[in-house]
Amino acid sequence: MTNLNKYPTKDPVLVTCGLPYASGEMHIGHLRTYVPADVFVRLLKKMGVDVTFVCGSDTHGTPVVITAEKEGLTPKEIYSKYHQHYLETFPKLNIRFDNYGNTDDPENIERSIQLVETLQKNGHIYPKELESPYCSQCGRSLPDRYVRGECPYCHVDARGDECDQGCGRYLEPGEVLNPRCAVCGSPTRPVTRTHYYFKLSNFTKFLEDFLQRMGGTKNARNSALSWVREGLRDWCITRDLDWGIKFPLDKELTLYVWVDAPIHYMSSTEQWAKAIGQPDAWEKFWKPGNGRLVHYIGQDIVHHHCIFWPAMLKGSDYNLPYAVVASGMVKIEGHNFSRSRGYVVWIKEDYLDKGLDPDYLRYYVVSGSSHTKDLDFAWDVFRDKVNNELVNTFGNFIYRALHFTNKNFGEVPKGEFDPKLRKEVERTIRGITDAVNEYELKKVSDEILKLARIGNEYFQAAKPWELVKSDKDKAAEILYNAVALVKALAVLIEPIMPSVAESIWGQLGYEAAEIHSVPIEEALNSPEVGSKLGTPKPVIAKIDDDQFARIKETIANRIKAAEAAERGETLEEPEVTVTFDEFKRMDIRAGHILECTRVPKTKKLLLLKVDLGTEIREIVTGLADLYKPEDLTGKTALFLVNLEPKKIAGIESKGMILAVEKAGEPGAWVPVTVEGVPPGSKAA
Ligand code: MSP
Ligand code: ZN
Repeated sequence: MTNLNKYPTKDPVLVTCGLPYASGEMHIGHLRTYVPADVFVRLLKKMGVDVTFVCGSDTHGTPVVITAEKEGLTPKEIYSKYHQHYLETFPKLNIRFDNYGNTDDPENIERSIQLVETLQKNGHIYPKELESPYCSQCGRSLPDRYVRGECPYCHVDARGDECDQGCGRYLEPGEVLNPRCAVCGSPTRPVTRTHYYFKLSNFTKFLEDFLQRMGGTKNARNSALSWVREGLRDWCITRDLDWGIKFPLDKELTLYVWVDAPIHYMSSTEQWAKAIGQPDAWEKFWKPGNGRLVHYIGQDIVHHHCIFWPAMLKGSDYNLPYAVVASGMVKIEGHNFSRSRGYVVWIKEDYLDKGLDPDYLRYYVVSGSSHTKDLDFAWDVFRDKVNNELVNTFGNFIYRALHFTNKNFGEVPKGEFDPKLRKEVERTIRGITDAVNEYELKKVSDEILKLARIGNEYFQAAKPWELVKSDKDKAAEILYNAVALVKALAVLIEPIMPSVAESIWGQLGYEAAEIHSVPIEEALNSPEVGSKLGTPKPVIAKIDDDQFARIKETIANRIKAAEAAERGETLEEPEVTVTFDEFKRMDIRAGHILECTRVPKTKKLLLLKVDLGTEIREIVTGLADLYKPEDLTGKTALFLVNLEPKKIAGIESKGMILAVEKAGEPGAWVPVTVEGVPPGSKAA
């Protein structure tokens, strides 16, 4: 067979994904970038392309600083916590990067400085006075997400660096109208300071040519071209913020996060090269030459990847992107994605912890909509996709074919691959490789489902369960072909559902894990007559009704609570009763606070040394914004002493101080003190 593996380049390909901000957990919106990228990488491998896949956590900028302030931890503590979360969660979704670092790694700091210095040397950076908002109430400058105001283009309420609820445009510092502080809500006053600008306007002609040649999806290319034609303004690349990479030309300023974040694509490749013992291997992608860069991102960050990034690369003499693949946005049950309004699906809490199979979610994300269209995630659609498409069409064919063959022949029976069926497999492979070249992975899942349907129809029409009684040779022939189709389906589904494919491969009698390195043409090689089969078992399980009802209830409650919070109410807690035995398990004792100190580098945390009569314990509490250390020292308060110990800001906290929240005053906590009782006295 000729010309099957025709990704337009035979050169080595580097695939990257938009880096998740290490300021919150993974949600289904993220998966619209990571799942298709992982599927694409697995498909390219099957098509014989040399491909490397890198990503990392985005640790700088206001998203991380604001979360750190809220949680009373340092930015580094926050990003370390979420970086760990991403490191652990990606493999659980069968998303396997060749390297996953973070933007605070030394390689990234060095590479960012080198790149900025080169841009400066090449004459692309200049200083200019900038008037930007300052909050007198909070006593600080308000970069990016610290400020909200009116979008100067569409006049909707917008974030300082992006019109997040309106037209989606990238906004320059000082651009929002009627700015106010996002933390305290006060109106701001302008302050003037010298900042550094990247001469983006010099790259207008370059970008116009480059974008017309750039591969990937049309939506990325077209919106970028229209911004170029609207006219490019120079880009402010420094911020008045403590956290981030110091700006090499003025150490009092910090590099804007959107400069060092994409540079991590480069430094993550360097880390990978070091790890495989070929420290120069990163250059084949990043020095001008024949390496190909493919960036997977969401529609929301097209401006950064199709305007800023290629101009930065061009201005510092690096290779240029080969393709930018931008997905449509994820919505939840018809609503715009919104954490605060409860329209979110958390990957760990709502999906993995519920025992749902990661491959089913991968299948949904890929097959749910055309890549560049929005994807409306709905739990009912999820269930129907699993129970109908995956169980009834795909899984049933595989199980019936293997089970029936095994029962009647115990091995691959005698037969030959029917040329008509083989042609169908060939057509499917062609459909899949075309889909890869168009970056349209929904077509891949559609093609595979179509082949499974053909298998079902073939099996149903030939009635092997009757033939085994009347004409065993004919039955063998039919089952041989059914097994051949199962084999093709296993090879072709691997990029989308890697674990399901492993299971089928094992049932076919092969080494299960080898499926990941089997080339796509293997789908055309029918199995060897007489080879042993493994034990058949269903590869897809129906979604359990009770479990499904519980998931939906959790989600519905979350939305109700968010709506109530928006109206300024707290939902009535559902009536719960506690048995006396449950209550007795809580060990609550009076503790004498011997010492109280602030936890360094945190805003909210106090470290208590508490005398509990029999021992002195360290307990961390988040009351520093309400009490000074001297307010608490010497007091005797109630503590839950058998609470599971927890590491907070690096300190093992063994217990919790009890406090009451004043009715009608959210956040006003008062410790429950008991005077005149010896430490260790037990409450009941
Ligand atoms: N840190 C930046 C990207 C820097 S890349 C040099 C960022 N982080 S993010 O956590 O907000 O998003 C990470 C990836 O997920 C991005 O590709 C983004 O487009 C994608 N998505 C996050 N939420 C999304 C939806 N609701 N829908 C679709 N994709 C979105 O952006
Ligand atoms: Zn706007």
